[in-house]
Amino acid sequence: MKGNLVGYRHIDCAQVYGNEKEIGLVLKKLFEDGVVKREDLWITSKLWCTDHAPEDVPVALDRTLRDLQLDYIDLYLIHWPVRMKKGPVGFKPENLVQPDIPSTWKALEALYDSGKARAIGVSNFSSKKLEDLIKVARVPPAVNQVECHPSWQQTKLHAFCKSNGVHLSGYSPLGSPGTTRLKSDVLKNPILVTVAEKLGKTPAQVALRWGLQMGHSVLPKSTNEARIKDNFDVFDWSIPEDLCAKFSEIEQARLVKGTSFIHETYGAYRTIEELWDGEI
Ligand code: A2P
Repeated sequence: MKGNLVGYRHIDCAQVYGNEKEIGLVLKKLFEDGVVKREDLWITSKLWCTDHAPEDVPVALDRTLRDLQLDYIDLYLIHWPVRMKKGPVGFKPENLVQPDIPSTWKALEALYDSGKARAIGVSNFSSKKLEDLIKVARVPPAVNQVECHPSWQQTKLHAFCKSNGVHLSGYSPLGSPGTTRLKSDVLKNPILVTVAEKLGKTPAQVALRWGLQMGHSVLPKSTNEARIKDNFDVFDWSIPEDLCAKFSEIEQARLVKGTSFIHETYGAYRTIEELWDGEI
């Protein structure tokens, strides 16, 4: 078993992914077999939109901890700045209600105080929503996990996070090529492909290395052993400055727009612009 380990230490979970029980079973076995210690892993999970009510927040984290078979989580995030009625996960527009981020955040702060969540943060927050939260937070958000890759570089949000001490964590760092509804061609971008050819690396490796050089963490996903290994091989080389500069020429487009959360009557956001405060 040990011989096959690639070395990933960060496991990015969420209640809504529906696989925390399975991950919990695997973690339990790894700990029991002495393959890795709990303290050497970084485990993130996220509060789903149906659990924003302050009284539901600790219940949701307890469920996640029970499923993952853990007694603390390294990072707990508000998954979206979106609130839905309590109940089963579902994208019915009539379930969308007005979020109250300050009150949800207070409940996360209590989890931070209790030690059950060693860090707390947000996900899918625009610079404006992050700024509004920072203004009222007693415990400032440690992380904003957002879509970030060469074709959606988040330059403005990056600068905002940096100047406010918030770590930016990038999801879909490869542009989620397997998600057909997103119609992503991030890894086929000619600039990325040219840089990869020059460096003798794959476009995926260059996309990930670019993210690390930008200063954010990257959360690549793969179910394929060879690609899992390839995606980890990004630490002992770098993209020279002249090639890195080329990335600023890449056309920008958000892939994950959150259209399910937009409705003319229900919820907080009538348009995609409102959800992202114009950062689209
Ligand atoms: P697979 O599981 O077959 O490897 P993201 O992390 O941006 O969401 O992208 C995940 C998707 O990218 C998955 O569909 C995954 O498919 C694919 N993928 C992961 N690593 C690579 C790679 N090195 N080259 C091409 N596609 C990859």
